[in-house]
Amino acid sequence: MRASSLILLGGLALAAAKSCTSMEDCSLNGICTCHHTCRCDPGWTGSNCGKLDLQPVERWTGYNNTNFTNPDFYREGGGNSSWGGQIIHDREDKGLFHFIASQFKHGCGLSAWRPFSQVIRAESRTGPRGPFIWKQTLFDTFRHNPTVVWSPADEKYLIHFIGQDWETPDVCRSTKTNNTISVSTSPDLKEWTEQIPLVVNVTNPTAWPLWTEDDHTPEMLLASEKNNIYYSPTGYAGPYNLTVEPGNIEIHPSMRSEDPFLWRDKRGHWHFLVHHMADIPLGLKGPRVGAHAFARDWRGPWTYENETLAFDAFVDFTDGGRTEYYRRERPKLYFSEDGEMTPLYLVNGVQEFGNISAYTLVQPIGEAWKAYEDALGR
Ligand SMILES: *[C@@H]1O[C@H](CO)[C@@H](O)[C@H](O)[C@H]1NC(C)=O
Ligand SMILES: *[C@@H]1O[C@H](CO)[C@@H](O)[C@H](O)[C@H]1NC(C)=O
Ligand SMILES: *[C@@H]1O[C@H](CO)[C@@H](O)[C@H](O)[C@H]1NC(C)=O
Ligand SMILES: *[C@@H]1O[C@H](CO)[C@@H](O)[C@H](O)[C@H]1NC(C)=O
Ligand SMILES: *[C@@H]1O[C@H](CO)[C@@H](O)[C@H](O)[C@H]1NC(C)=O
Ligand SMILES: *[C@@H]1O[C@H](CO)[C@@H](O)[C@H](O)[C@H]1NC(C)=O
Ligand SMILES: *[C@@H]1O[C@H](CO)[C@@H](O)[C@H](O)[C@H]1NC(C)=O
Ligand SMILES: *[C@@H]1O[C@H](CO)[C@@H](O)[C@H](O)[C@H]1NC(C)=O
Repeated sequence: MRASSLILLGGLALAAAKSCTSMEDCSLNGICTCHHTCRCDPGWTGSNCGKLDLQPVERWTGYNNTNFTNPDFYREGGGNSSWGGQIIHDREDKGLFHFIASQFKHGCGLSAWRPFSQVIRAESRTGPRGPFIWKQTLFDTFRHNPTVVWSPADEKYLIHFIGQDWETPDVCRSTKTNNTISVSTSPDLKEWTEQIPLVVNVTNPTAWPLWTEDDHTPEMLLASEKNNIYYSPTGYAGPYNLTVEPGNIEIHPSMRSEDPFLWRDKRGHWHFLVHHMADIPLGLKGPRVGAHAFARDWRGPWTYENETLAFDAFVDFTDGGRTEYYRRERPKLYFSEDGEMTPLYLVNGVQEFGNISAYTLVQPIGEAWKAYEDALGR
């Protein structure tokens, strides 16, 4: 009697883990089929489509200049450390990919990110995995965590970042500054003409225009730390109102996160990829570092997936190596350009164990990135 009910319970648990009844059970990253199993969209995997289908990384792609040194460096071992960035395909020159990233001045490492961080632009003519080559400093110290989005309503790029003008000290040392989000605009990513400070006085911005093919609205969403979503009816210059409150997602310590990255998918549903901080209370930086949250409507209700994580601190390399990173944060995705919003690459700021330096990793996702690169003529 007891044994058979245990077997029955076990069977139910197995069925429960795999069966779905709605698209929410498939993390809004796939379809729940008539067999009650999820059919995941390309790039997503796992029984609930909550995991990124991450592929091995080729070494020395992305943006890794940690072995560089310069006469103006205050110390050795930091290189040109960087901490995350965003890949953007040039709108006219189809062989060109831009990379807008946070990079630390004077060879300082991650621990001195504030105030040594600048916003820089790098370029690749070898595809979206790079390696990206440094081209220019866009915003001097202290500027950090840029996020770039094309605004169809304004026909220009918007860059949101944190920071303010700040003289750096003459040693690599952390300083407390106000973070506050500013926005600047550009037609081509090279010249940034306008800067509106203090759009909202919080940290870690991620923006998405509400413009669609059918509705040419100027309305903007600007999300930030804790996945709060600010809304502006009039466009990127604001004023913004906090519209989605933190409690909607962050209702439990296991859902503590930072560094949100917001997007709307091909079905019009909404997603966040975040730096998941479940191991911080244990005194660790990982390995549980990447989570996904989703909602049909940006106003919510939002579901934060704290069981099946989107990514972790382990990365496989094409040479057969495997690295567990000390820190892996600042997630951003690069999507296909065919309207399907297939994630092709995951970008993260990473730091190895025992290093002061940091760099930016670009990891391919699923299968679609290969055809994408073939079409570029790589
Ligand atoms: C990044 O550069 C460091 C040397 O500064 C090297 O040890 C490491 O393997 C590189 N990582 C990747 C992923 O290219
Ligand atoms: C850094 O490593 C890359 C890749 O191995 C190499 O091409 C480059 O010359 C190295 N730079 C320095 C300064 O050692
Ligand atoms: C490092 O950054 C400086 C600007 O701070 C730039 O001049 C230099 O070319 C960069 N080097 C590499 C290898 O990215
Ligand atoms: C932070 O902002 C407040 C209000 O704008 C200002 O009074 C204060 O001086 C700022 N702190 C720093 C370190 O700039
Ligand atoms: C921004 O927020 C910080 C920290 O909460 C505060 O010290 C500062 O005064 C605020 N600045 C403005 C202009 O409100
Ligand atoms: C922000 O909210 C306030 C109070 O609800 C309202 O009066 C104001 O019109 C709103 N502003 C925007 C830009 O939505
Ligand atoms: C996920 O969150 C729920 C609360 O909603 C909590 O009970 C559960 O322990 C969390 N799971 C993990 C793995 O932290
Ligand atoms: C990290 O430290 C190891 C051992 O000192 C070194 O071989 C490696 O190049 C360092 N990696 C980076 C990214 O600086």
